[in-house]
Amino acid sequence: MNFIDLRSDTVTRPSKAMREAMANAEVGDDVFGDDPTVNKLQQKCAEFTGKQDSLFVPSGCMANQLAIKCHTNPSDEIIVEWDSHIIKYENSAPAFISGVQLMPLKGKSGVMVVSEIQAHIRPDWYHFPKTSLICLENTHNRAGGTIYPLDEIKKVRELALKRNIKTHLDGARIFNAVVETGVSLKEYSAQSDSVSFCFSKGLGAPVGSILCGDSEFIDDAHRFRKVLCGGMRQAGIIAAGALFALENNIERLKDDHKKARRFAEGISKLDFAEVDLSSVQTNIVIFKTKINADELKSVLEAKGVLVTNEGPDKMRVVFHMDISDEQTSKAIGIFKSIN
Ligand SMILES: Cc1ncc(COP(=O)(O)O)c(C=O)c1O
Repeated sequence: MNFIDLRSDTVTRPSKAMREAMANAEVGDDVFGDDPTVNKLQQKCAEFTGKQDSLFVPSGCMANQLAIKCHTNPSDEIIVEWDSHIIKYENSAPAFISGVQLMPLKGKSGVMVVSEIQAHIRPDWYHFPKTSLICLENTHNRAGGTIYPLDEIKKVRELALKRNIKTHLDGARIFNAVVETGVSLKEYSAQSDSVSFCFSKGLGAPVGSILCGDSEFIDDAHRFRKVLCGGMRQAGIIAAGALFALENNIERLKDDHKKARRFAEGISKLDFAEVDLSSVQTNIVIFKTKINADELKSVLEAKGVLVTNEGPDKMRVVFHMDISDEQTSKAIGIFKSIN
């Protein structure tokens, strides 16, 4: 069956033009620093974010974990939103790799309350861990692709600077926020010591993420990427896909947002689905279901639509470049047929 695959924006396959760019990439051995395409990508991302340097890494998880490793010391504590990717889906890597403890704070739509962050920064006392890092996620995956407002980010930054705490932005889907708000990547990046983003989600590249920060931080990240055995040799092949994505696939993310909104509005009137339309801000739709989520997932699969369930009464659907307007309409029709 030709499925309408709404499980994630990570399921996109590289387009013909992207594959051509990858096939024609100039390559070298990146572990020697000799791959011209990786170097070009890293330079471009540093410029794009306004940071001094950047490092190409295999995954968004590795970018986050390198940031945590480089900004902290073992036994420190880091403040993260309780439903963030770092806490939910990175397999306690902060404990395993960096020896740090997480202080999860419950946010609203992924946005933490600044006074609560302040209240959870540890006083300087030998009984307590040292709070050395605050991580934000923009857009927020599990909150439904919600945007972290720039004003809120600025408040966190101001507090962090005052308390001598580093900040990292998990910007796996930062371009969804950029195209939706008009806030530039540089403006977002200026509010944190490090920022990471992924090429292999809505941007449509097959592999890769980038970590950006100042030169000393990126030197450290480079060393720890090696510790994690993440050096890649002729990585220009995949860096070329990432460069192609940056040059061609950013503005079109708006189309994914339109499809997500149309879908959310389409299913919001169904008896079994409860959608908070205010949470549909980019390409992700999370909704509550009165039909058991496992059951609904199977019924949808039998009708040709793939989705993910997030617990017994919660589903997630994600729009991306491999889903056409027609497929969006078809998916809405299939949902309606279940009602
Ligand atoms: C917000 C966020 N951060 C990080 C990641 C990790 O990316 P990767 O799957 O490339 O490791 C994801 C993946 O979905 C994500 O949604």
